[in-house]
Amino acid sequence: MAMSVVVSLISILVASTIFSQPNAMSFPQELLSTIGTAVPPSSSTSLSPATSSILGPPFSNTSLSPATSSVPRTAPPLVPALFVIGDSSVDCGTNNFLGTLARADRLPYGRDFDTHRPTGRFCNGRIPVDYLALRLGLPFVPSYLGQAGTVEDMTHGVNYASAGAGVIFSSGSELGQHISLTQQIQQFTDTYQQFILSMGELAATDLISNSVFYISIGINDYIHYYLINVSNVQDLYLPWSFNEFLASTIREELKNLYNLNVRRMVVVGLAPIGCAPHYLWRYRSNNGECVEEINDMVMEFNFVMRYIIDELSQGLPNSNIIFCDVFEGSMDIIKNHKRYGFNVTTDACCGLGKYNGWIMCISEEMACSNASNHIWWDQFHPTDAVNAILADNVWNGLHTNMCYPMNLEDMVT
Ligand SMILES: *[C@@H]1O[C@H](CO)[C@@H](O)[C@H](O)[C@H]1NC(C)=O
Ligand SMILES: *[C@@H]1O[C@H](CO)[C@@H](O)[C@H](O)[C@H]1NC(C)=O
Ligand SMILES: *[C@@H]1O[C@H](CO)[C@@H](O)[C@H](O)[C@H]1NC(C)=O
Ligand SMILES: *[C@@H]1O[C@H](CO)[C@@H](O)[C@H](O)[C@H]1NC(C)=O
Repeated sequence: MAMSVVVSLISILVASTIFSQPNAMSFPQELLSTIGTAVPPSSSTSLSPATSSILGPPFSNTSLSPATSSVPRTAPPLVPALFVIGDSSVDCGTNNFLGTLARADRLPYGRDFDTHRPTGRFCNGRIPVDYLALRLGLPFVPSYLGQAGTVEDMTHGVNYASAGAGVIFSSGSELGQHISLTQQIQQFTDTYQQFILSMGELAATDLISNSVFYISIGINDYIHYYLINVSNVQDLYLPWSFNEFLASTIREELKNLYNLNVRRMVVVGLAPIGCAPHYLWRYRSNNGECVEEINDMVMEFNFVMRYIIDELSQGLPNSNIIFCDVFEGSMDIIKNHKRYGFNVTTDACCGLGKYNGWIMCISEEMACSNASNHIWWDQFHPTDAVNAILADNVWNGLHTNMCYPMNLEDMVT
């Protein structure tokens, strides 16, 4: 095991040298300019399923087929489809196709998933959107790069999320390739065009405007941008103005989605990564106390985002946009961990070093035997058990109220 750790460390160093690029807080103009306008399919600048194979091996056997066996589907779906935009909190296989260190395509990732195989989810089991898909009466949603590219594969929804991605285009680029927020929305416009071509504009628009969009992104703009002071950002932006910059950029992207006839959106805030094993290790937490300065930034961001969404939805007719504060939900779990059945609150199930927060989870020997009494699966991501609770809260506030001004269930029923 020691040997494989050394080898992995070397590969991390090599890869981060290869992938490190000059960072600038800029968005490629060609991506921005195509958003919100009708683009012929051939002019797309984003990765599409057809071109993804040049970036890596096809993972057809590890990607989950849309039908899930474990939960019987009795009632008809409440909505036509679930679309997902985000980062590793909801990536279900995008990064399997990219040249990146941010990948979860090997065990022990996925060991407690329905298939007991790695899928690209950064978890031992399911991620929140899996639980929510089932609540909506839908099958698990395939990743955009992992499906065959046919309309049948996409009519119940598509997951564009990519681990390492942020709101800022270059956030996470030291890990390698990722699909940023703007690029994910571009990929969605490609999907929309395919729907229009195959079912006609009316039916496609009907499908999109009745479907749910789940948006979970922004934490990598802290982990991989602000907190590591890329481009001297900490001197240029105080936390407050960086928060406002991120939140208002997300607002513009939500408007772009609205202009593409998206009406139902769930925006989840940022999680308390100041309590994540990686930061407990890095900031030398003594007894597992969370890093307050990081959590304060996250809380402030969520505060701004909630306000912005409230304001935005009032200005967009017939929109249904809710904000779910995953910080509140997660802190409730950490504080009341005994009630939820967790007795390991600071150490990741899988990793190495103090709190298992030093080295990322890369081998089965690094993992604990039973993740279900752990809050954290690896140095940044919660366990399946936590994801289930958070998804319950998004759905109907079962354990604690987390969504404003309503829960997802109220939005779709
Ligand atoms: C992938 O699945 C197909 C059919 O299910 C099977 O024939 C093939 O051997 C599998 N490949 C691998 C690498 O597991
Ligand atoms: C951020 O980086 C710049 C340039 O590398 C440096 O001058 C500055 O002190 C750093 N700021 C903080 C708060 O570390
Ligand atoms: C947590 O509980 C399990 C069994 O329920 C036990 O084996 C383990 O030692 C406990 N861990 C801690 C840190 O208390
Ligand atoms: C894991 O721990 C949970 C909660 O402590 C317990 O219910 C479950 O039976 C354990 N599973 C295994 C395989 O030991």
